[in-house]
Amino acid sequence: MTSVLQNQHVLYPQMNIEYPEITKGDGVYLFDSNNNRYIDAAGGPVLCSLGYGLEEMGDILRNQSNKLNFSYRMYSTTSEIIDACAKIHHVSGNLLEKTMIVSGGTEAVEMAAKIARTYHIDNGDPGKYKVIGRWISYHGMSNSTLSWGGHLGRRKLWQPLLSEHGHIPPAYCYRCWYGKTPESCSLDCACALEREIQVQGPETVSAFIAEPYSGNSLCGAHPQKPGYFQKIREICDKYNVLMIMDEVMTGVGRTGDWFAYQGYGVVPDIVTMGKALGGGYFPVGGVGCSAKVSDVIENNSATFAPGFSWAGNPMAGAVISATIDYKIRHELLENVQSMGDYLMKELRTLASAHPSIGDVRGKGLLIGIEFVKSKETKEPFDPAIQYQSLLVDACKKNGMFIQSGSGNIDGILGDMLLLGPAYTIRKSEIGEIVDKLDLSLSIVEKQPGIFD
Ligand SMILES: Cc1ncc(COP(=O)(O)O)c(C=O)c1O
Repeated sequence: MTSVLQNQHVLYPQMNIEYPEITKGDGVYLFDSNNNRYIDAAGGPVLCSLGYGLEEMGDILRNQSNKLNFSYRMYSTTSEIIDACAKIHHVSGNLLEKTMIVSGGTEAVEMAAKIARTYHIDNGDPGKYKVIGRWISYHGMSNSTLSWGGHLGRRKLWQPLLSEHGHIPPAYCYRCWYGKTPESCSLDCACALEREIQVQGPETVSAFIAEPYSGNSLCGAHPQKPGYFQKIREICDKYNVLMIMDEVMTGVGRTGDWFAYQGYGVVPDIVTMGKALGGGYFPVGGVGCSAKVSDVIENNSATFAPGFSWAGNPMAGAVISATIDYKIRHELLENVQSMGDYLMKELRTLASAHPSIGDVRGKGLLIGIEFVKSKETKEPFDPAIQYQSLLVDACKKNGMFIQSGSGNIDGILGDMLLLGPAYTIRKSEIGEIVDKLDLSLSIVEKQPGIFD
């Protein structure tokens, strides 16, 4: 195919398809150069928590840039960074005593592991460096974060560059790795952490990292039996292993709490954030730690120097404060809860009408759907069909962007999608998402070869 892309110099993710050229955003809608309108059911990669085109966020950026566009954190601080970290401390329920502002989620996770290691060195345990993760999880695209993550499909190409620190099974109740149901569950997947720490050698294990609700790797999956993260906490404490909650996807309101750990009633040691932290208006991330961690560092080396050049910049600080303020002023977490409940109810109704919907899960405005060829046996679709790609294409043709996922079973097998619209979404817009999904599913499910 001769494509207009060949005349461009952009390294696109797919070099053989044409992307719509987006020219404008407004609320939950995006418009392309041909005046087509798309409802964005995932806010990009579950990132644009305030919706598109907010003038007041544009003003924040312009005013901050005119006042002070950059000041280097190695030899200065700014009121913007001080205020942003104070606000994070406040919404964390005063847990996150110290926060480092960075430029994205992967960077936040990298820094989380470095904070954990610094804590152990300062605590007299310099041998602790490993970060145990969970299979079918995602913590970022750098070599280290891919190593701690456990999505086989995403790790495959880069495998020679990764290092192995140990993994435990996911909290994936729809396809429990131990063959249990939520009723017969005895939290084997949490207890597995103790065995893994012993296998790795407790003297080498620095931290355990988990997403409180799975993002794109298991699309909304979460432990359905209470006590999972409490068990993890207990094991971490027993072996002096820090607990990192990776809230890059869930943090800053996505599940209806400021942080998902609050909903579980568990206290992590380190929390990462990104995406919703900047509302979609500036590339930001953050990593915060509790006083337990920061006190040890402060009272010993009193040094945490690592960081990327852009870390701690005042533009990020201004955008983070404005995003948190906006969410409070407009009661957006309340909207996340009520619209999330409504979306969940509508999707559960949709599930009964569509043979390919196997599971609907998540919390707030982070909801995943897992597709199956058979609801009874949970048999997945043949990966050659690329069910989730067919659905993404059908949705796009029907004027909707969604996030899809695959490989939930073994890195290749399994199809899912993830909904994560802006916190500002209204009931009528949720209705539009559900209608478009209904229509797109009907088209895809009828295609030859899907169910035969
Ligand atoms: C849980 C989690 N951690 C880390 C990341 C990486 O964040 P980023 O893409 O901003 O680097 C993601 C991205 O989807 C994520 O969902």
